[in-house]
Amino acid sequence: MMNYLINVISRHRRLVLVLSVCLLLVLAFALRTSEKDRPSAEHSGVLGQLESLRAAKAGGEGVGGGEEDTDRRADHKLNWVLKSLSQSQGKSSDKPDLTSGVKMAASDAEKFDAEKVLKLFSSCRGDGDILSLDCYVDAYEELCKLFRLFGTIFSFVTSDVEEKIGILRDFRKAENAESYKTIQSMLDYEVANSLTNMKKRPSGARTLLRLHRALEFISALLMKIRDTDNSVKFSSVATKAYDETLAKHHPWLVKKAVHVAMYMLPSRPDLLNKMSIEDSNAGKARMTDLIDELNVIYNITQKLYEKDNLLDLP
Ligand SMILES: *[C@@H]1O[C@H](CO)[C@@H](O)[C@H](O)[C@H]1NC(C)=O
Repeated sequence: MMNYLINVISRHRRLVLVLSVCLLLVLAFALRTSEKDRPSAEHSGVLGQLESLRAAKAGGEGVGGGEEDTDRRADHKLNWVLKSLSQSQGKSSDKPDLTSGVKMAASDAEKFDAEKVLKLFSSCRGDGDILSLDCYVDAYEELCKLFRLFGTIFSFVTSDVEEKIGILRDFRKAENAESYKTIQSMLDYEVANSLTNMKKRPSGARTLLRLHRALEFISALLMKIRDTDNSVKFSSVATKAYDETLAKHHPWLVKKAVHVAMYMLPSRPDLLNKMSIEDSNAGKARMTDLIDELNVIYNITQKLYEKDNLLDLP
């Protein structure tokens, strides 16, 4: 029975995809209409269906083979979003395994510290806006604590980012580590040796680009948290931040799934509380300092990628 199902699914992959989209839309609609009393039973039901679809689809993967690279990545991302959705429903059976090399200490060490992130990022900038890669990666790891505050729903960003941090650290341990000392030297080296778009394994340039894009999103999100108040629905504000930034780089299906996922975000006061930032002018000033620093780092990196025409690395 299961085998038959898997066969059918792998033969009609397109249909399955369309069906999942329909289900997602139904879920989005259900959430929209039942927002006052979420999470509803209806919601869990749709989630269950989504999950079994995803499982069946994953099972069929091996049969078809020869998937396009981008397709696989989109699938991977979609799976993350779905996993996150089901986790926030309290089903712990489907815990994601973080295969990244990044190990995190528990509880207290996890506390997000805006000033620490700011200090780390600003210490990365040397003369002539040279950016140290080690430092960038360390600062980013600290920033990851912020992603985690957004809840399991953000694991589609967090897990991705942790994996990228691990890849960049590995470059710094390989035999040509010196070429990877700064972001500038890394790009120069990979461009000069035509390594930016390697098929076999992700290049440093491509890997950093993913972190760079997520940085734009997080900066936009922090701006929205700062510039709105608690009367505004935070999920729609966060969706706007996503649409203006990361969404540009995601396939349609992932975008839709992320939109649904946004409904699971904590509320604005809850987030501020978790970030240990007061909802006051002083708190806003602290956020502004951090946002400005993130934007400075973002702008420097953006210019480097623009110069070498690397902004669209697949
Ligand atoms: C970053 O660049 C954008 C667009 O060029 C600009 O509007 C913004 O002021 C810059 N921000 C910082 C902090 O340099």
